[in-house]
Amino acid sequence: MGQSLTQDMLWRKSVKMFDQSKSISDVDMRDILEATRLSASSFGLQPWKMVVVSSEDLKAKLADAGYRQKQFTTASYVVVLATYAQIDEVYVERFMQQIVKDRGVKRSELDDYAQAINTVLKQKSEREVVDWSSRQVYIALGTLLAAAAQKKIDASPMEGFDADAFDEILKLKSAGLCSIVAVGLGYRTKDDEYLAMDKVRFSYDDIVEAL
Ligand SMILES: Cc1cc2nc3c(=O)[nH]c(=O)nc-3n(C[C@H](O)[C@H](O)[C@H](O)COP(=O)(O)O)c2cc1C
Repeated sequence: MGQSLTQDMLWRKSVKMFDQSKSISDVDMRDILEATRLSASSFGLQPWKMVVVSSEDLKAKLADAGYRQKQFTTASYVVVLATYAQIDEVYVERFMQQIVKDRGVKRSELDDYAQAINTVLKQKSEREVVDWSSRQVYIALGTLLAAAAQKKIDASPMEGFDADAFDEILKLKSAGLCSIVAVGLGYRTKDDEYLAMDKVRFSYDDIVEAL
């Protein structure tokens, strides 16, 4: 038995630079992304895409659009979590087809479900849909951070970047996607001064309200 998730969460830190002499194995990386893929989402719609960047050239370009944060250039991988600019009937239908495939049900049995989802989505403005789908992306982010911590792999979340520039660099716009949050993944280095700093968290009693 490994240690508890609580211990893993105590261990994890949003490191500010990674040890460039170490790289994450393909097996570990695949496992982290698989765990993230299995995240929960509203209606199960999974409105996310994980863009996995390992090319040094692309990482440097991302850093330029990300306040030159060292996490981008020193990470083994940068995963950019993106969402769809539009969650429309075509997307919902793609999801219905996945249910048909995974559960072996008839498409006609899903008519009411598809209609319910489309009705909810149509009540939202385009901006509200992106806000909503971004919230789903953050659930995936949480899974990714925990999955990495479980393997003692460091994962540093970042919102500090120019999202339009990222979309341009990663050619996301033409694919109907927009970047929401990025994560640098790698192994911590002793040279990172942030590691010496204690974790700052409100106490259990401050956060948990038992009624
Ligand atoms: C959504 C999100 C965006 C963040 N963006 C940045 C960032 O751009 N740069 C940075 O250095 N840290 C960033 N952080 C890291 C936070 O500052 C960090 O999680 C927080 O200070 C708690 O520290 P810990 O993660 O080491 O426990 C981000 C964290 C989250 C969850």
